[in-house]
Amino acid sequence: MNIDWEAKEYAAKFNFVPQYGKGVMELITAPAGSCVLDLGCGNGTLTRQLADEGFKVRGMDASPELINLARTTYPDLDFDEGDATDFHLQNKVDVIFSNAVFHWIDRDKQPLLIHCIADSLVENGELVCEFGGYGNNARIHYALQTEFAKNGLSYRMPFYFPTIGEYAPLLEQEGLQVRFATLFDRMTELKGEDGLADWIKMFVKTPFTGMDSSLKDHIIHKTVQSLKQTLYQEGKWYADYVRLRIRAVKTRC
Ligand code: BEZ
Repeated sequence: MNIDWEAKEYAAKFNFVPQYGKGVMELITAPAGSCVLDLGCGNGTLTRQLADEGFKVRGMDASPELINLARTTYPDLDFDEGDATDFHLQNKVDVIFSNAVFHWIDRDKQPLLIHCIADSLVENGELVCEFGGYGNNARIHYALQTEFAKNGLSYRMPFYFPTIGEYAPLLEQEGLQVRFATLFDRMTELKGEDGLADWIKMFVKTPFTGMDSSLKDHIIHKTVQSLKQTLYQEGKWYADYVRLRIRAVKTRC
């Protein structure tokens, strides 16, 4: 995963992430009572909602900080610390659900992720997921790249945002048959006057690693300025999200 989370700030300013996850949950066809793994459960908000829908659910996340927060907030639910690209379940589940996680995993590790998912599902079990798709936050990343270049630096976008055509074969190679896939734009409102600067500071960390803090502030300030015309509307900041939403069924054991 390409990030260390600041759990409290994430919960306070970016609670739209789990809010949008409710729509993803509606793709689950397994009945109440089915066993669900919430993969990359973060602070457990959606794990709670899955439990409230009647599923037998466990949450898994690579961040010990977020897992601790989830355990404290929802002591009646089960959470495990675990790496989405390197896990094995003793008891296979009917559904693997995941919201806003897969784009954090580099392209070369995606086959490991999908292998773990396929290995953990029962026959006819389903993967229901949403993550950043092709073109996600393209304006923001282009603006960052431009400001890095002005300072003689190169910018490596730290996310994987595939098309449907690129991702479906990866799933099929592991016996996960894609039954539904859609790529759609979702302009997403950010909180507060510093919404975009806060978003960059929270989510785009690795390109700034080792950079002097005054240069980092300068690049973020200039990036935000350059995006005001397109991403600031009627007193509100927006991020140009593109979502990839998929339902796939395990057809081969
Ligand atoms: C996303 O949910 O698409 C996303 C969030 C933060 C950084 C990158 C992508």
